[in-house]
Amino acid sequence: MRTDIVHIGAGELTYEIRNIVAVGEKLQGLGIKTYWENIGDPVAKGEEIPLWMKELVARYAMENAGYGYCPTRGVRSTREFLAAKVNRLGGVQIGADDILFFNGLGDAISKVYGLLRRTARVVVPTPSYTTHSSAEAAHAGDRPVTYRLDPHNHWFPDLEDLENRIKYNPAVAGILIINPDNPTGAVFPEHILRSIVALARKYDLFIIGDEVYQRIVYNGQRIIPLAEIIGDVCAINMRGISKEMPWPGSRCGWIEVYNARRDPMFQQYVASILNAKMLEVCSTTLPQLVLPAIITHPEYNAYLNERIRRYERAASIAYDIFKEVDGLVVNRTNGAFYMSVVFAPAALNHAQSLPIENREVRAHIEELVARPGTALDKRFVYYLLAATGICVVPLSSFATEHQGFRTTLLERDEERFRRTCAIMAAAIRGYLASDSQDSQDSQDSQDSQDSQGSQDSQGSQGFQGSQGSQGLQ
Ligand SMILES: Cc1ncc(COP(=O)(O)O)c(C=O)c1O
Repeated sequence: MRTDIVHIGAGELTYEIRNIVAVGEKLQGLGIKTYWENIGDPVAKGEEIPLWMKELVARYAMENAGYGYCPTRGVRSTREFLAAKVNRLGGVQIGADDILFFNGLGDAISKVYGLLRRTARVVVPTPSYTTHSSAEAAHAGDRPVTYRLDPHNHWFPDLEDLENRIKYNPAVAGILIINPDNPTGAVFPEHILRSIVALARKYDLFIIGDEVYQRIVYNGQRIIPLAEIIGDVCAINMRGISKEMPWPGSRCGWIEVYNARRDPMFQQYVASILNAKMLEVCSTTLPQLVLPAIITHPEYNAYLNERIRRYERAASIAYDIFKEVDGLVVNRTNGAFYMSVVFAPAALNHAQSLPIENREVRAHIEELVARPGTALDKRFVYYLLAATGICVVPLSSFATEHQGFRTTLLERDEERFRRTCAIMAAAIRGYLASDSQDSQDSQDSQDSQDSQGSQDSQGSQGFQGSQGSQGLQ
């Protein structure tokens, strides 16, 4: 090309949650049965959408309104319904025009950061849900500016680190809070949230909240919505139906703007987001139309509660199993449906591996992990996938220095979930011990058996040292 056509931030746009799928699918093609614990889609993990909900959607689909454009901000009656819900919390008060619908929060995230002045930065948590950290970094054409979530303190934000990031970097204009959090499953206590709001007030910043998991909270915890404590600070709070309903395929989410008129510059920035949406005309109409009818349906709360109780049980099962494994830092999750497990520093190295029976699979994985710059936790994730069929996401792909992995709590079959966690725990133990001489000897002996052509059928035993991937079927 005569002129460089690549955006300055193009290199920041990576989404390992889906990249790993390509590896999983390749292994499936080679005969490995794969268990997807990488993506936060309850429907993909077998969630049965209740008949009453399908009937409601079907009823709205029979009316003409859902087939037309809607106002740019979104269906007015739905925005009025949502604004009234915010106002009933008794904190900040908003009107229907303070709400703007998007085609899923993915769309909202890309516009909210994309329309920020290039030199203005939003400090994001580390680890961070990649869509935020990548979009923020891409807009600036630079690495994300981050504040630490501390795995040794329930994954709560490190407030001193956050204040330092703000104080010593005048480019920081905003703070991102994801609560409940993806990828850690943490739910932040009120005093921490109030301290973050106080920092925003002290340094004249705005806040971006992501509360897509707002109602998915368990273990007796209570979510403190940003609307309750934001006071007079300018904020954009993100909400959606992908996780709660769950209806991720609807591509429907919205932002609530708090204190929109308190700061002229903030007001102008928010207006530019609205104008960008206007260029697209509007977001999908049908899910907006049906949203209030679903949320107020007499069976909605019971349905949601049944799912939340399931995530609560899964959180305990995963925590109880992983906390027994030496070399891991594990926290019990209190919200959303993910768990982030961290390897202790120096626990991982480039000599570790897991036995892989299928020669072709082994060759493929060895080729992948030999690529320059492969993170140590990605190496582990590849071996785990090849040896057990379990697909998780390396934690280092969530804008963090921590080495570990993120798994989901979405498996509906509790016994299968327990077995999946047990197999992962056994694989971790085997992997961490595999650079000792004994295990090197056993891998060498497997190599020599392979070269004699005695092992060319896949999966007769699955993962050695565990029940094997067959234990999952
Ligand atoms: C914290 C968080 N925000 C936003 C999203 C995107 O949601 P949507 O389906 O509305 O694009 C996700 C999806 O996993 C998420 O975990």
